[in-house]
Amino acid sequence: MSNVTYDYMEKYIRELIPAHEGILTELESYAENNKVPIIHKEVANFLELMISITKPRAILELGTAIGYSSVLMAKCSDDIEKIDTIERDEKMILLAEENINKAGLQDKIKVLKGDCLEVLEGLEGKYDLVFIDAGKGHYNVFHPHCLRLLSKGGIIIADNVLYKGMVASRELVIRRKITIVKRMKKYIDMITKDENLITSIIPMGDGIAMMKRRDD
Ligand SMILES: C[S@@+](CC[C@H](N)C(=O)[O-])C[C@H]1O[C@@H](n2cnc3c(N)ncnc32)[C@H](O)[C@@H]1O
Repeated sequence: MSNVTYDYMEKYIRELIPAHEGILTELESYAENNKVPIIHKEVANFLELMISITKPRAILELGTAIGYSSVLMAKCSDDIEKIDTIERDEKMILLAEENINKAGLQDKIKVLKGDCLEVLEGLEGKYDLVFIDAGKGHYNVFHPHCLRLLSKGGIIIADNVLYKGMVASRELVIRRKITIVKRMKKYIDMITKDENLITSIIPMGDGIAMMKRRDD
């Protein structure tokens, strides 16, 4: 139960989305069998659509895991020149690099090793799409860097912002997740109240936030 949308709605929508093939199917099975959290099917579908509309050349991803979403994004469009994806877990880094090589995408996708905040602090240049999918309790601190690294007209998509519904309903909050929920609420406040941004919160998957600078 996602507590973000109705189960029957999620099931219905998932069944409408065509299945992937090849390496993406392999990675989906690996993730399921090994309990590696990867983006939900409808979020993958949404990313594919957004990439097709916005045609980003450079993408920054926070949270690589086994490389599923970065491979998925790289396969969306020939316009993509590079995807930099940040991961701190050694085991995930090895698996991701293996999978990226297997997909033949090693020239496009680079795994930046380390904690997101530390890597972000050292990054320069601009990205047309920033996809945030790591460190739910730290989106607040990642945010200024994501904005600094965002190209003119670029978009930020953040996953898990409704965090199993806990962000929207006190009754759903699990005690040991209180700090993450509080921080996520602050993040949502920050991005929805910032007059320089236009932001949409979408109850899909575990909740998505999408934003761009209003005047770009
Ligand atoms: C939800 S998974 C990413 C899934 C991936 N985007 C996909 O859909 O294929 C989140 C990943 O972020 C990593 N992570 C969590 N916090 C991090 C941090 N502060 N810095 C770097 N990596 C982090 C975890 O090790 C985990 O592999």
